[in-house]
Amino acid sequence: MIPHKPTSFHIKSFGCQMNVYDGARMAELLEAEGMHAADAGVAELVVLNTCHIREKAAEKVYSDIGRIAKRDGGKPMIAVAGCVAQAEGAEIPRRARAVDLVVGPQAYHRLPALIANAVAGRQAIDTDMPTVSKFDALPGRRAGSPNAFLTVQEGCDKFCTYCVVPYTRGAEVSRPWGAIVDEAKALVDGGAREITLLGQNVNAWEDQGRGLHDLIEALAAMPGLVRIRYTTSHPNDMADGLIAAHRDIPKLMPFLHLPVQAGSDRILKAMNRSHDVTSYLKLIDRVRSARPDIAVSGDYIVGFPGESEADFQATLDVVRAIGHAQAFSFKYSPRPGTPAATMGDQVPAEVMDERLQRLQALLTEQQHAFNRATIGRTCEVLIERDGKQPGQRLGKSPWLQSVLLDGGVVGDLVEVEVVGAGPLSLVGVRPERAAA
Ligand code: SAH
Ligand code: SF4
Ligand code: F3S
Repeated sequence: MIPHKPTSFHIKSFGCQMNVYDGARMAELLEAEGMHAADAGVAELVVLNTCHIREKAAEKVYSDIGRIAKRDGGKPMIAVAGCVAQAEGAEIPRRARAVDLVVGPQAYHRLPALIANAVAGRQAIDTDMPTVSKFDALPGRRAGSPNAFLTVQEGCDKFCTYCVVPYTRGAEVSRPWGAIVDEAKALVDGGAREITLLGQNVNAWEDQGRGLHDLIEALAAMPGLVRIRYTTSHPNDMADGLIAAHRDIPKLMPFLHLPVQAGSDRILKAMNRSHDVTSYLKLIDRVRSARPDIAVSGDYIVGFPGESEADFQATLDVVRAIGHAQAFSFKYSPRPGTPAATMGDQVPAEVMDERLQRLQALLTEQQHAFNRATIGRTCEVLIERDGKQPGQRLGKSPWLQSVLLDGGVVGDLVEVEVVGAGPLSLVGVRPERAAA
């Protein structure tokens, strides 16, 4: 390893948007330390910001470490951050000796000291969950793109029986109102037009009796901020005020990611989801009464222990009943330390594969149908970045669909007519161009 403090860094984030946010904050911290961002092939420090949610994601880290350690030009300092770091801690350098530093998701504000330790050959492992928030120790924000993430809530107290998040991220904690508003201001001053409020259970956010809808209302009053989103929500924390916000606050985008996970009450109970299918569907009805055009997204797990073909059919039924704009689906992955990992009646891999294919076929069909339904409509698109072709731009519709545009300025909110739709994206033209 390099015998001095690294001068450049590269951060690779896996997993959820909260990890992407953490990656951005680590970058700001390292820049404040005088380091600069560089490509993975040359950076003197490579941070793997990992995800532990499913086995495949967690195992990928080790193959990545091996590859980075052997890269041309010499091995950089290698840091493992994120949820694998939290879950496996000191086990990581034992298994992969190339790793110099391990830092958990609640401790990464201490990266500079850990780097110094690693350079000095001292142990550099920190998976504490300190009571003093890392947020207070991090440098201020700057926006890099028109759409920014802002973590407002962390952790989870729900303990779904399949899930590692309560162990890797700790208990539910809400950041204080003032800190969030300040961070949002800094992001908007830096050019952000859209902010997505993040939390493992973002709709559980609260501060002295104020809920997420109050926060959204306050942010909506901020000049320069044109769009607000939030993710991920839990059905049990979907307060009346938040539903009403979808009716009353135009800057709150018509999109809701509200995972139901499965369509069988028996399986939901075994998952410890604490909602049933009927209560979930009623909730969706209430949200749709408040905001009829809302795009509903979700997460599904197939092959949870004990899932029968009839249980799986119930999942397909609930998907049909909801009608998703998009949704994620996963094969159940047994995770160390979770109750479901030791449940009997684990579903064979080939059965899971086949169920996942059927579910994904249905979800893709629904997504395509949702996209096609926007053809001919005019909507606002926030232009987020350049596309692959010369002159092409990529933006997002209010319903979080990707929209390809023939030009426009990154950061602008433009009126667009949707003229084409594939399963994954829309094609839009700006009306003045269409008329020309
Ligand atoms: N807090 C959010 C999402 C957390 S993780 C929520 O409760 O909805 C994102 C998704 O990963 C989950 O919604 C779930 O569908 C999936 N997931 C979590 N643990 C899993 C496991 N052990 N195997 C497969 N998928 C899992
Ligand atoms: Fe995991 Fe359940 Fe918490 Fe979501 S609500 S993070 S799935 S334990
Ligand atoms: Fe993965 Fe941790 Fe997010 S396990 S999904 S990175 S909270």
